[in-house]
Amino acid sequence: MRRQVLLFLVALCVSSVLGQVSYSIPEEMAKGSLVGNIAHDLGLDVQRLQLRKARIHTGDSSEYIQLNKEKGLLLLKEKIDREALCGQTTPCALHFQIALENPIEIFPVTVEITDINDNAPLFDKEERMFEISESAVIGSKFMLEKALDPDIGLNGLQSYTLKPSDNFILKLHSQSDGSKRVEMILQKPLDREKEEIVSLLLTAVDGGEPQRSGTMQIHITVLDANDNAPVFTQPVYKASLKENSIKGTLITQVSASDSDKGSNGEVSYVIGNSRSASKLFEVTEDGQLLLNGPIDYEKAKKYEIDIEAVDQGGLSDYSKIIIDVGDINDNSPVINVISTSHSIGEDSRSDTVVAVMSVNDPDSEENGNVRCVINKNIPFVITSTSSNFYSIITDNELDRERASDYNITVTCSDEGVPSLSSSVTLTLQISDVNDNPPVFERSSYEAYIIENNTPGLSIFTVTATDSDWNQNARVSYILEDSSVNGVPVSSYVSVSADSGVIHAVRSFDYEQIKDFQFRVKAQDGGSPPLSSNVTVKIMIQDQNDNVPQVLYPVQTGGSLVAEMVPRSADVGYLVTKVVAVDVDSGQNAWLSYKLQKATDRALFEVGLQNGEVRTIRQVTDKDAVKQRLTVIVEDNGQPSRSATVIVNVAVADSFPEVLSEFTDFTHDKEYNENLTFYLVLALAVVSFLFITCVVVIISVKIYRWRQSRILYHSNLPVIPYYPPRYSDTLGTGTLPHVYNYEVCRTTDSRKSDCKFGRAGSQNVLIMDPSSTGTMQRIQSEKSILDEPDSPLEVSMIIFLFITLSFHCISIVSELSLRY
Ligand SMILES: *[C@@H]1O[C@H](CO)[C@@H](O)[C@H](O)[C@H]1NC(C)=O
Ligand SMILES: *[C@@H]1O[C@H](CO)[C@@H](O)[C@H](O)[C@H]1NC(C)=O
Repeated sequence: MRRQVLLFLVALCVSSVLGQVSYSIPEEMAKGSLVGNIAHDLGLDVQRLQLRKARIHTGDSSEYIQLNKEKGLLLLKEKIDREALCGQTTPCALHFQIALENPIEIFPVTVEITDINDNAPLFDKEERMFEISESAVIGSKFMLEKALDPDIGLNGLQSYTLKPSDNFILKLHSQSDGSKRVEMILQKPLDREKEEIVSLLLTAVDGGEPQRSGTMQIHITVLDANDNAPVFTQPVYKASLKENSIKGTLITQVSASDSDKGSNGEVSYVIGNSRSASKLFEVTEDGQLLLNGPIDYEKAKKYEIDIEAVDQGGLSDYSKIIIDVGDINDNSPVINVISTSHSIGEDSRSDTVVAVMSVNDPDSEENGNVRCVINKNIPFVITSTSSNFYSIITDNELDRERASDYNITVTCSDEGVPSLSSSVTLTLQISDVNDNPPVFERSSYEAYIIENNTPGLSIFTVTATDSDWNQNARVSYILEDSSVNGVPVSSYVSVSADSGVIHAVRSFDYEQIKDFQFRVKAQDGGSPPLSSNVTVKIMIQDQNDNVPQVLYPVQTGGSLVAEMVPRSADVGYLVTKVVAVDVDSGQNAWLSYKLQKATDRALFEVGLQNGEVRTIRQVTDKDAVKQRLTVIVEDNGQPSRSATVIVNVAVADSFPEVLSEFTDFTHDKEYNENLTFYLVLALAVVSFLFITCVVVIISVKIYRWRQSRILYHSNLPVIPYYPPRYSDTLGTGTLPHVYNYEVCRTTDSRKSDCKFGRAGSQNVLIMDPSSTGTMQRIQSEKSILDEPDSPLEVSMIIFLFITLSFHCISIVSELSLRY
């Protein structure tokens, strides 16, 4: 209101100066507002004005102003909008006249309508859309619409602002019509990735007081451009993978991001390595690195893969994947035998190297740490000489006899879990050394042989074994030299070198030799040979080959021996004692005595064991003087052998009585005849022997004479048979033998008495019924005569002749004595 008043005062001043009435009023004054005191300004008072019928003369704008005659004032009839009235025309004034009558006077009145800032700048549209690629270059221009402000002057549109002003600035171009073209210039590139929709507010302001403004919203959709390469999330990816993982195993996930949109942001992955790596691995579209082939720690422990991420626009990024391959215990140790001996001697020293081998395990760490052992309980050890090299050495003495070969199993195992192992078996032969002597099965041998064996009979076998091998174990048996009763033992026995069978060389006679011993050596074929020996004792067993020999009473051919029994003899009177011996032993020499025949059986008995002849009743006068008892002496052998003896007993008190009785006793016919027969037989035999000897000697002489011209080698040993206790008296005349008797009566345990006596000294001549045996012996003794010609031989022949002649003579004289 004050402002209006002020303006009014100004207008008034102006009008008074110009002499014409003009007013200036701002637009938009309310209806009825005072425009001016026209009465005053015209210098007329109000009555006059009324009188003169003042009125407003106007064109078409008259209706805005009315004249108040009562007060003489111009009043606004209607509210005036300057913009509607004048538009942009300036100045904007209403021109009219005040017409007076009486006198007619015309007064021009100008009412200038001044502008007030009643309009704000105004945009056509409230918002504007743009689509701008983010790749738009700086300086790109974008035309904006103008704003319109109907006000004029300062109140009109003055300037624009754009907010925010990060990317764009405004540029105004003045145009010929005075208006301004508005451009938006890209000052800083857009980044869709930062801001996809940019909203700007364009504001147009006028210069009025108060200032008015209008706005327009600008929406910029930033279009994507492939301005971003993919970016891996890590510069290096690390992964670990166990070897032998199956195909398709996910190793790691890589990812690259691309902040672009759409296809510009679609990333695909490519393995960018050598061909081998790209065969082993594959990457999926979404960045999963998968195993595509066999992976072996032993071939590669680490892989470095270059991986590329590419977007559709061709931009890419690189990263690296480092894959550590983890070892798995998938390799057994490999044993490589470098050298081995197939055979070593059993005398090899300790620490002899038998085999050398190398062991490898391609695995790593524990999986590749190898330990080797060999089987237990063998005399070998395995030692590690240097890393991965092992040797097997002996650590004990070897003995082929205990173990001739060894299977040495070398087992090498790694320390993986589970552990893998491999093994190799070496076969080692132990070669033989002659270190064992033959060993007899027994420490000593005893063997029995029954006398009268056939020469060459195998007695028994000694066996020695040698635990060595082959030649070293080939045992031969050797009879050790020794002598038995002064005779080399080789004349008793022989040993078969190969078989160890012991043969009797001769026939043994228990009565001459009961046992003997010798040593047999067993020797192997080694070099040098080893040997051992054993004592063999041969015991000759008795055969009942000897009849009992009656020593007493002496049996003579013709001479008469009688035992005297006094007639006064009591019952049990010891008449005599038949003494007999048997050179056999044991049961064969256990003699028993029985009365075989007797003149009076009731008078005498013979002690079964002791041979004592006793009376069993009182001797009476009726008993004959001459009693004749036949006592049979039997040994206990199987079959038993016996001898009979005739005991003449004279029952008499005095010797002459006996003599008279015995002188006229007629010779026992039978006995005499027997004796005569024997004498004749003896004569014949002696004669025969004589002739035979002569023939033999002559033929031997001739043979010698022939042989002496030929080089004669006899390798057949001539074994003279000299029984040790046998002395040949050459008593071939009557064929008696004179024995040295060793009478050991041990037949019963009561008493053991040995009588040594030379039976010959008692002139006991025993007719040996088995004299044929003696003859055989003499026959065999002929061989003695085959000794080289010597004075001894000649004298022996002469002696033989003489002896034979002597015997002939004695037999003939005996015969003549009888008849
Ligand atoms: C060694 O092995 C072989 C063959 O397997 C076998 O015949 C032999 O008896 C074995 N030797 C030992 C001492 O075990
Ligand atoms: C027989 O063997 C023994 C040991 O058993 C030995 O002392 C002796 O010398 C040997 N004899 C011979 C003749 O070899």
